[in-house]
Amino acid sequence: MTIGWDEQTREFHLRNERLSYIFRVLAGGSLEHLYLGPALAAGPSYGHLGRREFGGFANRLDDPIALELPTAGRGDFRMAALVVEGTDGSTVLDLRYVSHRIERGKPAIPGLPATYVEMDDEADTLEILLRDEPSGTEVRLLTTIFRDMPALARSVVVRNAGAGPLRIRTVMSASLDLPDDDWTLVHLSGAWARERHIVRQPLGPGRQSFSSGRGASGHEHDPSLILVRPTTTEASGEAVGFSLVYSGDFLAEAEVHLYGTTRVRLGIDPETFTWTLDPGAEFASPEAIVVYSDTGLGGMSDAFHRLYRSRLARGSWRDRDRPVLINNWEGTYFDFDEDRLVAIATVAREVGVELFVLDDGWFGARDDDTSSLGDWWVDRRKLPAGLDGLAHRIEGLGLLFGLWIEPEMISPRSRLFAEHPDWAVGVPGRERTESRQQLVLDLGRPEIVDHLFEALSQVLSSAPISYVKWDMNRNITEPYGSTLPADRQGEFFHRYILGVYELYRRLTAAFPEILFESCAGGGGRFDPGLLAFAPQAWTSDDTDAVERLSIQWGTSLLYPLSSMGAHVSAVPNHQTGRITPLATRAATAFFGVFGYELDATRWTAEERAAVADQIAFYRAQREVLQRGRFVRLVGPEDGDGNLVAWMAVAADRRRAVVGIYRILNRPNPGPRRIRLRGLDPAATYRVSTWPAGDDDAVSRANQGLRGGDVLRRVGLVLDADRHEVSAEGDFWARVFVLDATG
Ligand code: GLA
Repeated sequence: MTIGWDEQTREFHLRNERLSYIFRVLAGGSLEHLYLGPALAAGPSYGHLGRREFGGFANRLDDPIALELPTAGRGDFRMAALVVEGTDGSTVLDLRYVSHRIERGKPAIPGLPATYVEMDDEADTLEILLRDEPSGTEVRLLTTIFRDMPALARSVVVRNAGAGPLRIRTVMSASLDLPDDDWTLVHLSGAWARERHIVRQPLGPGRQSFSSGRGASGHEHDPSLILVRPTTTEASGEAVGFSLVYSGDFLAEAEVHLYGTTRVRLGIDPETFTWTLDPGAEFASPEAIVVYSDTGLGGMSDAFHRLYRSRLARGSWRDRDRPVLINNWEGTYFDFDEDRLVAIATVAREVGVELFVLDDGWFGARDDDTSSLGDWWVDRRKLPAGLDGLAHRIEGLGLLFGLWIEPEMISPRSRLFAEHPDWAVGVPGRERTESRQQLVLDLGRPEIVDHLFEALSQVLSSAPISYVKWDMNRNITEPYGSTLPADRQGEFFHRYILGVYELYRRLTAAFPEILFESCAGGGGRFDPGLLAFAPQAWTSDDTDAVERLSIQWGTSLLYPLSSMGAHVSAVPNHQTGRITPLATRAATAFFGVFGYELDATRWTAEERAAVADQIAFYRAQREVLQRGRFVRLVGPEDGDGNLVAWMAVAADRRRAVVGIYRILNRPNPGPRRIRLRGLDPAATYRVSTWPAGDDDAVSRANQGLRGGDVLRRVGLVLDADRHEVSAEGDFWARVFVLDATG
């Protein structure tokens, strides 16, 4: 990996084995983008890739078409990456190169989560200083290239080097110009209980955007945007992924220009953001990650998974086996006492569960969702011996103990609200909109963050707590910072998220041994920003095995299996009413951080035995299922969507686990093969199937020794026997384990 700078051509060439990123300083001082793609030779000039605008109508002659940091008002009429209002009210900005430096490693971004390196030789960072003299705007443009991944990190720092205040109206973390528009846009979109489904749309003239103005990344859109060639598949072709390491309002946008070029920008949503910079002050943007793959969407996902699992997530749990948990939420909702919880934990322990999580309803006087958020002390009516008493009983069984909290919220029916009504977000003189009967605390105010840190530190030190589920169950309305002046109200949302990060930072630092899982009404804030603090997230409140196939498939475009909480719940499913076999629910949840979400005391003896077998299986395969390479084989988008298949492969390719799911049963099926990827073609694998007792045509056809090349070129054989199929019913799943022999 190198960052080259050529004094003569004034070109920068950031390069590793997988990609090159090239741009140059033009005579006028602006930065012209030249190339992003497979690695090109270091040394030669690539200046011939630059193209000028046709100067005629209204544009300045000789402006480049591709820019590194486009600004407004100087003849580039596309969307800008940086818009700053000067003291004269003008937003014209002409940023010119001043200097640059190249550093080993990667600097942190103050106050914001970001990817990092552990050794300086894992990445190099280029920092370019640009200045607009008339307004006094200074920009540091940071680009990091990682040594071993086809990935770049980009962020900007804006500084007011002038004498009067500046107001940032738009600050994108990344903007990239691509030289054509032959792209299909791939995006993760959804809603509560059906998060992160893949949608595809062709690019056309003009803009296409995804954003959130909710104060959180949200259920609706992931803070990312992916471009693929129309011919790109999982295993081949170009894909460029843009992902924002941020949890608040974001914008991801693509614009096809009149020359058929494509600009992508990604950053904080300008719709709900302004930031005033007093003289001397700085503003740091979140970082955007750009991954370039010429090995398909799968190659892109690989890079995101490795980066996010190993150099975004942090803390003592990053690389550790995540425990198999049981959560009582769907098992009891608010209706529990100590004995009921211990009864669930006792059964769970017997079948091999490792962590018991007490969900909502343990604090204040919360018998339903109408009260008590903010009152973070134990409800002795339900838990007379306190959290400590309960946790010790759970520990006594041989389980770890975990707890649900929702720090950012306040119920109007709470002691905290009676004491501090002004701490809830709202505009004075206007009614506050309640959502799930709750309001939001203004985490942009440092004294509220201090209070929460104190209150939650007390809770977390009051009992042996090994795990925390940090929930956030509503979006922000009537945004207003009661301590911000009128002309700084545009800072509210970003200050809120900075407060969330500060609270996370302080709590994870004070309790480094606690495993944090983030949550927001399921996957309403499942984003790279929070992964930096909580290495796993609750993927969705929807645990229906069929729905989860689409949710986990889509989520895996960017996020590693180690980040996806995936639980088996009771049937009929609480979100869909669907009844799926217990084995299918487990086979789906295996591909994530596995657990249960139900009342274990209701299991029959047969179910207990099945669950014990599931947990034993998962624990034996946990290394591969949590840290292996995830490969998507057949997805909900393919064919009639009735078959899904995916696999996880160990780093050394000695073991793989494959999951195959057939949603609706069809009579008299034809032959079908599932080709595998990522195996060692030279190895011989022993193929076994799970559940072990299922002796049917599919198991018999696959069990035994198979060459890696055969599994790759021919695949697993799904030729089911028609008599057996007629007895199988819907929602069939089978898991295969492949172990290299010799
Ligand atoms: C959210 C979470 C659930 C559960 C409830 C508790 O909906 O996603 O898992 O914790 O809150 O109120």
